[in-house]
Amino acid sequence: MGSQPQPLHVLIVSFAGQGHINPLLRLAKRIASKGLLVTFTSTQDIGRRIQTSIKQSPDQDVGEPIPVGLGHLRFQFFDDGWDDSDSRRYDILQYMPHLETVGRPALTDLIKNQAEMDRPVSCVINNPFMPWGLDVSDALKIPSAILWIQSCIVFSTYYHYHHSLCDFPTHDHPEREVTLPGLPSMSADDIPTFLLPTNPYTTLTDAILAQFKNLEKAEWVLMNTFEELEREAIQAVAKMAKVVTVGPLIDMVEEGEERARVRADLWKAAVECTEWLDAREARSVVYVSVGSIAVLGKEEMEEMARGLRGSGKPFLWVVRENNMGLLPEGFVEEAAEQGMVINWSPQDQVLAHPSTGCFLTHCGWNSTLETLAYGVPVIAFPQFGDQYPDAKFLVDVYKVGVRLWRGKSGLINRDDVEGCVREVLEGPKAEEIRENALKWKEIAGKAVASGGSSDKNLEAFIDGIQGFGG
Ligand code: UDX
Repeated sequence: MGSQPQPLHVLIVSFAGQGHINPLLRLAKRIASKGLLVTFTSTQDIGRRIQTSIKQSPDQDVGEPIPVGLGHLRFQFFDDGWDDSDSRRYDILQYMPHLETVGRPALTDLIKNQAEMDRPVSCVINNPFMPWGLDVSDALKIPSAILWIQSCIVFSTYYHYHHSLCDFPTHDHPEREVTLPGLPSMSADDIPTFLLPTNPYTTLTDAILAQFKNLEKAEWVLMNTFEELEREAIQAVAKMAKVVTVGPLIDMVEEGEERARVRADLWKAAVECTEWLDAREARSVVYVSVGSIAVLGKEEMEEMARGLRGSGKPFLWVVRENNMGLLPEGFVEEAAEQGMVINWSPQDQVLAHPSTGCFLTHCGWNSTLETLAYGVPVIAFPQFGDQYPDAKFLVDVYKVGVRLWRGKSGLINRDDVEGCVREVLEGPKAEEIRENALKWKEIAGKAVASGGSSDKNLEAFIDGIQGFGG
C-alpha cells in the first residue's frame, strides 16, 4: 500500500451461526472486491472451526490480508472465554447474554486497535443478532450498518410485530390473517413460526425482536435480497428504515470467481460429491438438505429415505454427523447404488452442478437465495421460523417448485416425498417450474452483476461511508 492513500476499512461482525457467517462473509468479499480493506470478525471458536476453509495455503496466517478483486480481506477473531466444546454455546438463554458481556469490550478494543494499527475503521457492519454492536459503534462515533440475513418480507413482519403496527394471530384468534403493506394478506401458516401464539421458543423470539430495539442507531439496513424479488415489500420497509438491498449474496462458482475460494464452513464439506455428481445425468439428482440447524426425527428420516428410494432418482442427501444414527439401519450401504449421504456439502458447487435437478430444502433464506440464483427447482419443506414464508413465496409467488406437506400425523410420508420428486423432475409442470427457475437465475445474476440493482446499491453505500469522512 506504500504511500498510496489508505483504503477505507470496514469491520464486519458475524454471529456464530452458518446462516449468518455465509452472507456476512460474502458481503465482506463483495466490499473488498471494490477496493476496500475489510476485516471479518467473530468469536475465536468460530475462527478455529473455519480456519481450514478460509486459508488459501496450509501455512497462511489467517490474519494476513487476502487479495480479493481490488481490495483485501482479513480475519481477526476474539476470545469469548468459553471452551470450543462448552455446551452453554448451544443454550441461547446462556449464550446471548455471555456474548454481549464479553463482546462489548472485545469489539470496542478491536475497533480501537485498528486505529492504532493505522487502519482506522470507517464503518462497522454488524449482525443484528448482536444488537449491542450498534451501541459500541455509536459510542465510538463510527457509522454502522446491519446486514439483515433473511427476507425483506420477514423483516417487515417482525418490525410490525415489534412496534405493534398490525394484528397478529393470538390464542383467541389463532387463524387471524396478517396484512402488511405491499403484501397480500398472509395466513397464520405463512408467517414466521416464532410469532405464533403456540410458539414454544419464546427466548428465541425475544432475541429476534431485540434486533429492532436500537435499530435507529444503524445508518443503513443492508439486506440480503434484491429489488426485483421483493419490490413491494422493500418499498414499504424503506419508509421505516434506510434499506439497501445488496443480494443475493452468492459466490457464483460457475463463473470461477476468485472470491469463491474463501469459504467459512463450520463442518468439513465433502467436496468429493462433485465427482459423484459428474457421473450422473444432467438435471437428474435430488439434492436434500435442511441446513445447519434443523434435524428431522427418526420417523421422518425413514419416510424421507423410503421416498427417495421409491422415486428411483439419484439423490445427494446431507445428514449432519450427529444425526447419522437417525437414518434407517443399513440405509447408506443399501442405497449406495442410487444415492450418496454426506455430512456437509459444498452447497454452492452442488447447486451450480449440471446434474442437480432439484433441491429438497428447508428454505432457510440463504438456501432460498442460492437455489434462485442457480436456477434450481425446489421441493419446499420448511421446518421453523422464516422458512415458512420463504417456502410460501418460493412455491406460490416465484413459482419455482412444489411443497412437501406434513400430513395429519404431523409427519411427512414416503409417497408424498416420491410424488414431489416426480412432480418437480418429470412432466409438463416440471418444465414450467424449470423455466421459472431459469428466469429467476437470470434476474438474480443481473442484480449483482456490474451495474445491476444490488451492485449499484452497494457502490452507493460505499460512497455513503466515504461521505462520513472515511
Ligand atoms: C438459519 C435459519 O435456520 C434460517 O431459517 C435463516 O433464514 C438463516 O439462518 P440455516 O438453517 O443454516 O440458517 O439455513 P440457510 O439460511 O439455508 O443457511 C445455510 C448455509 O449453509 C447456506 O449458505 C448453505 O449454502 C450452507 N450449506 C448448507 C452448506 O454449505 N452445506 C450444507 O451441506 C448445507
